[in-house]
Amino acid sequence: MRVYDIIDKKKKGEALGEDEIAYFIARVADGGATDSQIAAFCMAALLNGMTDEECFFMTDAMVRSGECAPRPAGAGVYADKHSTGGVSDSTTLILVPVLAALGVKCAKYSGRGLAHTGGTLDKMESFAGVRVDLTPEEFEAQVEKIGAAISGQTASVVPADKRMYAVRDVTATVDSIPLIASSVMSKKLASFADVILLDVKYGDGAFMKTPEDAEKLARLMVSVGRRAGRRTLAAITCMDAPLGDNIGCNAEVNEALAILRGEKRNDLADLSFFHCTKLACAALGIAEEEARRRVEACVRSGAALEKFGQIIAAQGGNAEDVYKSLPLAKNSFVIKAASDGYLHLSALALGKACAALGGGRTKEGDSVDHTVGILLGKREGAYVKKGDVLAELRYARAPEEGIALAQNAFRIGDKIEKHPLIYAFVGEKGDNVCSD
Ligand code: URA
Repeated sequence: MRVYDIIDKKKKGEALGEDEIAYFIARVADGGATDSQIAAFCMAALLNGMTDEECFFMTDAMVRSGECAPRPAGAGVYADKHSTGGVSDSTTLILVPVLAALGVKCAKYSGRGLAHTGGTLDKMESFAGVRVDLTPEEFEAQVEKIGAAISGQTASVVPADKRMYAVRDVTATVDSIPLIASSVMSKKLASFADVILLDVKYGDGAFMKTPEDAEKLARLMVSVGRRAGRRTLAAITCMDAPLGDNIGCNAEVNEALAILRGEKRNDLADLSFFHCTKLACAALGIAEEEARRRVEACVRSGAALEKFGQIIAAQGGNAEDVYKSLPLAKNSFVIKAASDGYLHLSALALGKACAALGGGRTKEGDSVDHTVGILLGKREGAYVKKGDVLAELRYARAPEEGIALAQNAFRIGDKIEKHPLIYAFVGEKGDNVCSD
């Protein structure tokens, strides 16, 4: 078998067999395939597509390219949630403590922010002393003891995806539905969650620009998960505007804490509680109404916030910090409405603006200023009057580029039909899609 022939077959639009895909992915992992060959393969797959079967074989081969996290010995159902990436999306910081407080274990492997999107690991590091590089033993012991941990996946997990993603990133081949599906699902399947909920974003700030494409991606990932023997669910949700009201690490943590304290209710809270309800319902085998009641009750009672404090303390921080607000950068710039009208926000532009102000990364390895933030004064679709505060930017470094990007994120015009926050939900049998 030769890497060249596999690329040639994909170029001609033919479906590859399990052995050919396994061979190709093994060469990606061991260096037998060059970067140009990986790029050629990805472009052929992007242009000619892959069958669902090819996508499953590729995911399976990627999982086998590295180590899988061992399932802890203790009893319990493990839940996991994955977002395809968004702006002001701190659902994980809300969902993990809520589920753990309800007795659903969350062994959560998360990532760092890149480009316009934020990352859970960066937000966890907003808490002084918190570590997100737990060893497999530390991770397992913490999950056993308090029911939850949030950490980064080690380099030995799915190495083929790391190499392939780096090539896709610089060859305009990220936005292929089967390549995204196998990349995301390989990392989910390398962990041991029994129930996986995928939050597939569509819109301005997402990889998938339309809800139809997001639904295709969601259905493909659910079918890959099901074929691998995992209970997999997917929500297709809107990312035209930022999900919450704050962008930037400390600012987003403060918002998540306010929601866990029951002080704030917005789209971020609604979506987080929706995900919690779906996962609690599947993991605990209870009716959806009962799951929703338990989710709301554990926030109201303070149990979810207390669990978050336990997670922070177990990972090296101070549990009391969840009862405080984290600091923001001192310098402030206010953006005001230039006219009356209906407000349209761009999640993409606001995410880029936050990164340009120093609150995110333009390339992997960049450091992040946790105190940089954008605090929105008005939401997508709101009617605003000239002079109303649309946003406050908090920054430390020279802000010109970030201010210009942020100013471009606000457009005032005619009323438009807002896209639904939750467009559809795909159940574990892939059959019960319902539009909101
Ligand atoms: N996130 C991933 O992990 N992989 C992709 O291909 C796209 C988004």
